[in-house]
Amino acid sequence: MGKHKFLFLFLLVFMYACGNSSSSKRTKEEIMQKGALLYSTHGCNVCHSLDGSIVYGPPLNDIYLKDITVVRNGKEYTLKADRKYLKKAISDPRHEKNKEYRNKEMPITSFTKEEAELLVEYLILLNSGQKINN
Ligand code: HEC
Repeated sequence: MGKHKFLFLFLLVFMYACGNSSSSKRTKEEIMQKGALLYSTHGCNVCHSLDGSIVYGPPLNDIYLKDITVVRNGKEYTLKADRKYLKKAISDPRHEKNKEYRNKEMPITSFTKEEAELLVEYLILLNSGQKINN
């Protein structure tokens, strides 16, 4: 009996682990929904438009893989706004600044790694203008 109980527990843990790993493979639809929710509940839209207009900070609908000049510790660097750049910009806004907006401030965030990654995926999908199958 004790053995079976153990097996049952093991199966539960196993199923839980599998469920978790499959949920990290999100569909585009899920990314768009959850990303949009994070984007609005955290007030990103207050400063960043998604239609190219400048509200306060840089618009984020046409940024992916663009060359951006940033200022970091008083030095200028030109880099590509790739996945890594976006993630850093979202999870550590003080790390460096887009030079064109260096007199403006983005508030510090406290996203989990998952949330930051989801926001990045969301922005990349938006930027590539991919249609979502509804
Ligand atoms: C109070 C206004 C404000 C809010 C709210 C804000 N940002 Fe920003 N953000 C800025 C400003 C200003 C910059 C440009 C200066 C800098 O690079 O720090 C910026 C830069 C960025 C960049 C880099 C863009 C580039 O051109 O280099 C990304 C990506 C970004 N923000 C994403 C977000 C996301 C996602 C949220 C919501 C969690 C958010 N921001 C909330 C003001 C804001």
